[in-house]
Amino acid sequence: MQLAEFQPEKIARSKACALPAELTLVIPTFNESANLRELVRRVDVALNGVDWEMIVVDDNSPDRTWALAKDFSREDPRVRCLRRVNRRGLAGACIEGMLASAAPIVAVMDADLQHDESILPKMLEKIRGGADLVVGSRHVEGGSADDGFSARRAAISRFATFLAKKALRAEFSDLMSGFFMLRREIVETCAENLTPAGFKILADLVASAPRRLKVEEVGYTFRERTAGESKFDIKVGLDFIGLMLNKVSGGRIPVRFIFFALVGASGVAVHMATLFACLALGLDFDFAQSAAVLVAMTSNFFINNAITYRDAKIKGLGPILLGLVYFYGVCAIGAVANVGIADLLFNRYGLVTIAALAGVVMGSVWNFALSSLFVWRR
Ligand code: GDD
Ligand code: MN
Repeated sequence: MQLAEFQPEKIARSKACALPAELTLVIPTFNESANLRELVRRVDVALNGVDWEMIVVDDNSPDRTWALAKDFSREDPRVRCLRRVNRRGLAGACIEGMLASAAPIVAVMDADLQHDESILPKMLEKIRGGADLVVGSRHVEGGSADDGFSARRAAISRFATFLAKKALRAEFSDLMSGFFMLRREIVETCAENLTPAGFKILADLVASAPRRLKVEEVGYTFRERTAGESKFDIKVGLDFIGLMLNKVSGGRIPVRFIFFALVGASGVAVHMATLFACLALGLDFDFAQSAAVLVAMTSNFFINNAITYRDAKIKGLGPILLGLVYFYGVCAIGAVANVGIADLLFNRYGLVTIAALAGVVMGSVWNFALSSLFVWRR
């Protein structure tokens, strides 16, 4: 079909889902209304002759991308929309989209036209030919990212790829890609082990897959974004580090706890800074120490609210104040647990360092458990 000939009205009904499609394209979106029409048009051209469907997974975009996607469904039933409310997260959106499919093959592709849809048929051929997973790669023959990424982003991406390859011992080149196709059966078997936070669904899939996957790559050039903006930010980067630590520990340490512990460590620095500032101002030690505890707890609360529990973020002055009070209470209980276990170990074995460390670990675990239960109820 020629580009100019695309007329969704004509496709309507005629191609209406008689049989489940062979390929489901999962398109995660957040504020992509400026790109969606062009995306559907290009996919329709690229996949001419293929029995495909598209599931747009939208996290309740303020620009109403979901409403636009539903308008498309009325024109062309191959396009469907999964609107998720009160949730955010690229990986989670991709997982849910793939799990909503009944097609034997699923693909994930960005909505912002940065991924080159024209390689989709080649990817499909490879899966039909026996590959489990085909990755659209910027780092193989025929692939590049020079235009689509700033130098800083490219460096971050390279570093993340390096880390992920080490952590997962994976041998293919673009683990950071958000553009891939695979057999749906693989997602279905490991769905419960996937982490919905962050951007790195592919690395997560490879790490969680039930068996060693037969992976192939197809090169493409990562295009520049022309409309809308990227949602990649520092929190997305943090999520990724958390995910890799979780995989390296064999899934034994929850990502959230890792962040909680890191925030706790930052609290120690805040505590010391406040303590010395107060002492420098000539305040007496007891007062300085109390102020430091309060400031550190408060700072921990806000950082945890912004990062560790950002999917359950507390908003509004009233709930924040209440959350703070609960958090102080939780910290107090954590402190009792800390001192309790440290005391016990010290009295029994007389080892200062080990007793103190065990206290810290015990206190953090308690803090974390109680915070998850009472402060950031989910
Ligand atoms: N549903 C949903 N929820 N979609 C989201 C969210 C979210 O919280 N955040 C981003 N998206 C959608 C965007 O609307 C877009 O379609 C796609 O996910 C990619 O988001 P971008 O914000 O454009 O990401 P990027 O261009 O910086 O990064 C892309 O390229 C990287 C390199 O290949 C993504 O594909 C990354 O996954 C990829 O690693
Ligand atoms: Mn993008």
